[in-house]
Amino acid sequence: MTNKIIYITRKIPEAGLKILREKGIAFDMGTSKNPPTKKEVIKALKKKPYDGVISFLTDHIDGEVFDACPTAKVFANFSVGFNNIDIEEAKKRNICISNTPGTSSVAVAEHTVALMLALTTRLVEGDEFMRQGKYKGWDPDLFIGTDLKGKIIGLIGAGQIGTRVAKMLHYGFEANIIYSDIKRNTDLENIDGVIRKETAEVLREADIVSLHVPLLPTTHHLINKETLSVMKKTAFLINTSRGPVVDEEALVYALKNNIIRGAALDVFEFEPKLTKGLTKLPDVIITPHIASARQSARDMMAEIAVKNVIATLEDGKAINNCY
Ligand code: DGY
Repeated sequence: MTNKIIYITRKIPEAGLKILREKGIAFDMGTSKNPPTKKEVIKALKKKPYDGVISFLTDHIDGEVFDACPTAKVFANFSVGFNNIDIEEAKKRNICISNTPGTSSVAVAEHTVALMLALTTRLVEGDEFMRQGKYKGWDPDLFIGTDLKGKIIGLIGAGQIGTRVAKMLHYGFEANIIYSDIKRNTDLENIDGVIRKETAEVLREADIVSLHVPLLPTTHHLINKETLSVMKKTAFLINTSRGPVVDEEALVYALKNNIIRGAALDVFEFEPKLTKGLTKLPDVIITPHIASARQSARDMMAEIAVKNVIATLEDGKAINNCY
């Protein structure tokens, strides 16, 4: 494909760049290690008549960005989530928006289970205790944890990631699974004892609530003061979906006041900023949005984002169209 050029807002793996070279598509790529600001993205896009853009979840893509590059036919997001893009605005302008579904399901599901285990085994607290030189010898009362066996795991959202989490916990840890989702998941319901319930019931009944929903107006602050208050006092909350699904101020309040027992978060409402008080709580584990951080996932994301660009430029439609 000659005479085509795209802009990539941040470095993507060689696996994707190789496909662009093979196809003869030229590209410019942002070099900043940290996420570029919207102003920086706009400045870069104004430099050439780019035919397409590969964007990241850290790029805020809206009408102003589209205006800066009226030649771009596609914004291919290098991620599964695409809540960083104004889809309505893209629709109006007939700009294709695509994502990379399925690329990180294994990684995110494993990270979710790792966070659950880290909470229930009190792994991080124990590690910190050792590093601080506080260990004085075996103590039967030290860091008493919680078994996963026999516990009720409540999944809110049961797509590819939720389904993998459910299978790992059911077959690996003998946990019981309940879930809520707008769609029925028959694959999941084939597992013994798995039942679909209303979200309110999942919140009330689960020992661990794990969030696997996209960020939409309907899921923004799905976990808030009221929904936290119906959870068990002994319950843990896990969020590897999107930060704003949880009202973090309400979560900090709930944890401080023993309304729930603990939480593990890989995503944050005001990412990269953390809500005041969050780091002071011992029953909280936080990781820097790394649930999908595996080379295999990143390579797949790069390949799929590039293939979405190529498909749009060749056929007018991305493989993974978001609308
Ligand atoms: C995604 O793909 O949406 C993850 O949050 C980042 O890899």
